[in-house]
Amino acid sequence: MESSTFTRPEKGAELDLRIDALAYGGNGIARLEGYVVFVSGAIPGDRVRAVVTKRKRGYAEARTLDVLEPSPERIVPLADHPGAPWQVLPYERQLAVKQEQVRDALTRIGHLDGFELDEIVPAVEQWRYRNKLEYSFGTDADGALICGFHAPGSWHQIVAVSDCLLASERSNVAREQVLAWCRAQGLEAFDRRTHTGLLRNLVVREGRRTGQLQVRLVTGPGELDGASLAAAVDCDGLTWTRTDALAETTQGGVTEIVAGAPSLEEELCGLRFLISPHAFFQTNTEMAEVLYGVAAQRADLKGWERVYDLYCGIGTVGLSLAARAGEVWGLEIIPEAVANAISNARRNEVKNARFFAGDVRLALRELVDEANRPDVCVIDPPRAGLSQKVVRRVIEAAPRRIVYISCNPTTLAPNAAQLVETGYVLRRVSPVDMFPQTPHIECVAVLDRA
Ligand SMILES: C[S@@+](CC[C@H](N)C(=O)[O-])C[C@H]1O[C@@H](n2cnc3c(N)ncnc32)[C@H](O)[C@@H]1O
Repeated sequence: MESSTFTRPEKGAELDLRIDALAYGGNGIARLEGYVVFVSGAIPGDRVRAVVTKRKRGYAEARTLDVLEPSPERIVPLADHPGAPWQVLPYERQLAVKQEQVRDALTRIGHLDGFELDEIVPAVEQWRYRNKLEYSFGTDADGALICGFHAPGSWHQIVAVSDCLLASERSNVAREQVLAWCRAQGLEAFDRRTHTGLLRNLVVREGRRTGQLQVRLVTGPGELDGASLAAAVDCDGLTWTRTDALAETTQGGVTEIVAGAPSLEEELCGLRFLISPHAFFQTNTEMAEVLYGVAAQRADLKGWERVYDLYCGIGTVGLSLAARAGEVWGLEIIPEAVANAISNARRNEVKNARFFAGDVRLALRELVDEANRPDVCVIDPPRAGLSQKVVRRVIEAAPRRIVYISCNPTTLAPNAAQLVETGYVLRRVSPVDMFPQTPHIECVAVLDRA
């Protein structure tokens, strides 16, 4: 077909596609006359039948319906798990793809060169590594209440899970106990189209080192028998969040304690941390320790430095560096997480760390006024990375060294490029695999002022 006669496929069209690469985020890439189709559930070498779910001028998105010819690389999946889309790739291949995607993002998106790229550090556990799982409630074809994950690409269809292979056995037992109780109570799932029904989400969080288990039930406005639920579930803390948010989120709402402790405790890098229900904590405990170890090596502190811990969460990175620093100043937007960071400093007898609540975009200048300029700045932002304005604020703060912990190389790349344009040198990038069986990539980049 000539390109001039090429018509973009309509939404809903079924296509026969050959996958030739993997995109950031994990979708397969197929090309129709140069028009790119991102295909979920497909890997390079597959020929698939896929349905178009989104059509744009420059590209389309599609979902695999059938694998017509499997890639020679495909392996048999261990579980039907929407949270583990890369389990069909051998683990060594997953690592190689992640390594290459980090290189590609930095060189192609960031136009960066001259840096050292370390070999990716493999994960300790390839399965059952997650310390936190967020499930959704739904209804099966027979009308029965189920608890599991969203079907790929669907906002309302939930796939039941009986043994989540990314969670520990104990965490699975807690989910089944809550589900059995909800069924016995005759409770209904929140319907995402009609906004009826009570049960929205279930969050199960585990202290891998402390053995503690926290369960949080997220519902719409309504009532439930907390005492009876607490008697039915084997955990150390049970909380209940009520929200009328339209979006599917476990953040926000009003959270109350039903039974046990309000926060989870975990050990990391020889320190003990308190984690409140809404605070961020790395979901792979064992690999978080490895990641922070790499960050500490790259920071290479001598003991006198003023360290900023931007996007500090409950203070894990800053507190793990404090013994090797002169002083640590943390900044974080969620007040409960900052409260955790302050109490975590106290409980670990760390005297040289201070934490503040604020938006880095607005509060970084104030922090520099209060604390003076940092020698080393650790930056660990969410997936969206830093806006250009925040990068300018960091440049103004003028740290000698920046240790950037990134969970998205495609946002690290432009941020690092902007820093390099103003005189920083990207020295070294170290990928760490925190999330086996998924396309997510974590890495530590170190930049020095020239
Ligand atoms: C990837 S987490 C890192 C947390 C922590 N460094 C850790 O390893 O546990 C990103 C953190 O940034 C916080 N955050 C998001 N936007 C922010 C902003 N504009 N200003 C400050 N903190 C923000 C989130 O609440 C979250 O705790």
